[in-house]
Amino acid sequence: MFLESFAGILLGFTMAFQSWGYMMPHQNPMDTLLLVNKQNKAPVLPVMLMKPSVDPVEEKVSGNIYMRPDAAAALERMFNAAGQEGIKLYALSGFRSYATQKAIYNRKDRSESRISSVAKPGYSEHQTGLAMDFEGESTLGKGLTEAIAASPEGIWVDQHCWEYGFILRYPKGKEHITGYIYEPWHIRFVGTEAAMEIRNLDVTFEEYIRMIRRERIKNLEQEEIVVEQENTGIDLSIHADPDGNGKHGGTSGSGDYGKRGGSTDTGRENVELSDSI
Ligand code: DAL
Ligand code: ZN
Repeated sequence: MFLESFAGILLGFTMAFQSWGYMMPHQNPMDTLLLVNKQNKAPVLPVMLMKPSVDPVEEKVSGNIYMRPDAAAALERMFNAAGQEGIKLYALSGFRSYATQKAIYNRKDRSESRISSVAKPGYSEHQTGLAMDFEGESTLGKGLTEAIAASPEGIWVDQHCWEYGFILRYPKGKEHITGYIYEPWHIRFVGTEAAMEIRNLDVTFEEYIRMIRRERIKNLEQEEIVVEQENTGIDLSIHADPDGNGKHGGTSGSGDYGKRGGSTDTGRENVELSDSI
């Protein structure tokens, strides 16, 4: 009960925060549509984190699977649903601090290649608390490789993750857009509406955000026309966008916040780097 009230306050705050000014959704550090990639840094604001009630790959990485509350609750639902269909998923790496990302980067990939496997510290989606690397029972302990895509668990996640508000963030064949190798193990929480649209449109998150940006600009232009019309009394609607609906302005969070104790203590994250990419 306390957690539900707390989650309600958090959601209210998030929505109020979003209504400030004309901030694009992907620029809002509180938004589920936050875009973090090679061109867009992760916000430095501390994020509220909680540990989803799911199994880590091994006990020693259990301190590495924290996520933002909305993402954590959705992850729990997804892992539970998979489990009910006989698909066993494990969490490997959720939220990472700058320091953790730096350690992984220094260990794995310090090249300046156009297509990378590890983000530079400061530029990882893992720093938002909205991403998770997972493994499945059938490839457990074999590392994060493309074999996950062909495994029953990888196939299940690919087919169902959108139902829980997740996308496969680094798809095959889109490396030139995302800047990263195909990562069938890296899921990103964007909310159910966006996840469904991204799946239906078959676009990357980068392309989706670009589409939202264009739509938002059209809506702003429409608003300007209406204001001008009200001021002048002249009908300027010939220039208006008839489809403007502003439907992407709000949060896409699931609204069903976690069942477990919350924690803002990012210091809990232990720097256990095994197998993380
Ligand atoms: N492996 C992903 C791109 C990261 O380092 O955030
Ligand atoms: Zn990842």
